Amino acid sequence: MANTVIIGAQWGDEGKGKIVDLLSQHSDVIVRFQGGNNAGHTISVAGHKTILHLIPSGILHPKALCLIGNGVVLDPHVFLEEVDELVKNGVDASSQRLGISYKTHLILPYHKAMDAARESARSKDKIGTTGRGIGPCYEDKAARIGLRAGDLANPDLVRAKIERALSEKNILFTRLYQREAMDAAKVADELLSLAPRLLPYLKNVEEEISCAEQAGKQILFEGAQGTHLDIDHGTYPFVTSSNTVAPNAATGSGVGAGLLTKVTGIVKAYTTRVGEGAFPTELFDSVGEYLQKNGHEYGATTGRPRRCGWLDCVILRASARLNGLTEIALTKLDVLRGLETLKICTSYGYQDQKLDYPPQGEGSLAQVTPCYEELPGFDEDISSVRSFSALPACVRRYVERIEEIVGVHIAYVSVGADREATIVR
Ligand code: IMP
Repeated sequence: MANTVIIGAQWGDEGKGKIVDLLSQHSDVIVRFQGGNNAGHTISVAGHKTILHLIPSGILHPKALCLIGNGVVLDPHVFLEEVDELVKNGVDASSQRLGISYKTHLILPYHKAMDAARESARSKDKIGTTGRGIGPCYEDKAARIGLRAGDLANPDLVRAKIERALSEKNILFTRLYQREAMDAAKVADELLSLAPRLLPYLKNVEEEISCAEQAGKQILFEGAQGTHLDIDHGTYPFVTSSNTVAPNAATGSGVGAGLLTKVTGIVKAYTTRVGEGAFPTELFDSVGEYLQKNGHEYGATTGRPRRCGWLDCVILRASARLNGLTEIALTKLDVLRGLETLKICTSYGYQDQKLDYPPQGEGSLAQVTPCYEELPGFDEDISSVRSFSALPACVRRYVERIEEIVGVHIAYVSVGADREATIVR
């Protein structure tokens, strides 16, 4: 049986939530392996919309076990708020169905404060973070001063670690950023008050996955953000602070790489990006506005309008390689309806050269000129089409041309927000 990793192949917001939700129907265990509540996965079932930031989207399927791996950074408040919201909507979010790794790092109020302080101190070179404390939490993990979910069972350790972390950070807050110092005892009391609700969720995630695998169960690894926001391979420094690429599903959940048998890349039929950073095919004209409006391109986490542009297959070629994509799910194809011409970027012009792959130096992606191929657009409403052969010929051509350029089979085509609005090829 195939264990699937689902990742975003662009800059996030590709519509992963919907595809995870679809594939979750056939999965027994769903694991998040990186990122935190900077993500926002929107799932529509029978017209009812649920937005999840932290808890795997698979929670909406009653039989799946949902796990939050060691590679995630978890804001305890957000986790509990999501649990409460799910329960309010009649979803079982008990510890029978949901687990957090002992090794998952916790986002604390000083991480959020540091994120905000840094961003407001930057002038032209803002990253445009989601402000959720993601970067500062991963920094503490790398600096070996982070707090992990398993520490919650040991109040003395929690207090000592928070005191230690704040002894450094308070100097930055007060002297560099002209902000108030934080009180270590208060931060620790507040966190420990949540411990009784969080502790039952702690699980040995690697063992849970390993046992499930040995029992022949199917495991789905749910990525967040997108390939080009990866801390190593993305458009550094305008990236998030985790590895978003598929191989990190192994490290971020504690399993061997051999367990990852299938990699599904989610690709939006055009390109969007939130926050700062290079975006070669970005549109600043009425077509860009059309995509933003028609595609409801506003962030599920921050509500910020997303920058919109044509599909960039150079970026996708890199995604195919970095993730080892075995198939693609193409989303939001219906949004392109009404455009006379559809453009696909097939290569870049860069310093008198033609590039089929993104240039590697920092800042170089901002200097490329996209080279486009034009295809005819379509006017038909395709949202109720459920088979590939029933799509208008020019829509099929658009899909097949992407397959040819990227060299990866497009196995799913999404033509609307609802779970059912999907063509499986
Ligand atoms: P951070 O992850 O909050 O540190 O933000 C770093 C960059 O990643 C910013 O440009 C964010 O807009 C972007 N980002 C983070 N999470 C997401 C996401 O889920 N979708 C799209 N962009 C994201």
